[in-house]
Amino acid sequence: MVDHLVSIENLVQDDIDILFYRVQDIKHGLNKFKNHLHDKILANLFYEPSTRTSSSFAAAMYRLGGNVISINDVNYSSVSKGENLEDTIRTMGCYSDIIVLRSRTSGDAHIAASVSEVPIINAGDGTGEHPTQTLLDLYTIQENFGRIKDLTITFVGDIVNGRTVHSLSKVLKNCQVNYCDTYDLDKLPKSDVYYLTRVQKERGSKGSYQLTKEHVEQMPEDCIVMHPFPRNNEIPKWFDDDPRAKYFEQMKNGLYMRMAILMSYK
Ligand code: CP
Repeated sequence: MVDHLVSIENLVQDDIDILFYRVQDIKHGLNKFKNHLHDKILANLFYEPSTRTSSSFAAAMYRLGGNVISINDVNYSSVSKGENLEDTIRTMGCYSDIIVLRSRTSGDAHIAASVSEVPIINAGDGTGEHPTQTLLDLYTIQENFGRIKDLTITFVGDIVNGRTVHSLSKVLKNCQVNYCDTYDLDKLPKSDVYYLTRVQKERGSKGSYQLTKEHVEQMPEDCIVMHPFPRNNEIPKWFDDDPRAKYFEQMKNGLYMRMAILMSYK
C-alpha cells in the first residue's frame, strides 16, 4: 500500500495539521532533519516547465539527506521516443522511492498512481490540481491570520485553467470561507486574501490584467496578496515592497512544506 498525494482531497484536516506543525519545527531548525531520508531517492519527472516546484522538491530532498533523479524536461527522456506515461512511471519506480510528477493533462496523476509501486506526488496535472502548492498556500494564510476559517478570499485571474485555484478552493469550501465573484477589477470586493494567477496562454487563454495603484488603494491595509508564480504583468514589481505582498513568503514556505510532505515517506 502506498500513500499517493494526487488530490488535496487525499488529505484530512488532521493530516494538514500535522504538516503545519512539522513546518513550524523545520523553520526553527532547518538542519534538524538532515539525515531523515538519507536512504531515499526522489524522482522529479516533469512533462511541463517548472522553477519553484521542481527546485523546491529537489532542495527539500537534499535538505533531508536524500538524493534526486531529475528529468526536468521529458523531451530528453524516452518520452520523446513515444514512451507512454504508465511505462515511464513503472520505470522510474524501479529506480526511486517517491515520484514527483508534473504532467500536461488533468487526470494523469491518477493514471500514474494506478500503476505505480512507489508514492506519486502530483506536482500539477494540466488544469487539474496542484495539491502541494495548496498546502504551502494554506500555511501562508494560517501564518498571516492565525486561521484559515472565516476569511474572505478573492481569486483573480484565469480561474478556469488555474490548477492552484482548483485545489485551494476544494479545501476552502470545507472551511466555509466566504466567496466573492467579480469580473471588474475596479470593483474588487473587500477581502482578507487576494489570490492572483496569471492568464495561462499555453492553455489557450487570452487577455491580460494588471493591478494598478488605484486597485491597491482599494485593498484593506491588513489584507494579503498572494500569487503562486510565475507572474506575467498582473502584479507590477513596484508592489513587491508592500507589506501586503506575500508571494515571496509563499515560495519560501514551499521548501518547508515540501520537506514536511517528504518526511511522511520515511
Ligand atoms: N507555483 C508553481 O507551480 O511554480 P512553477 O511552475 O515554477 O513550479
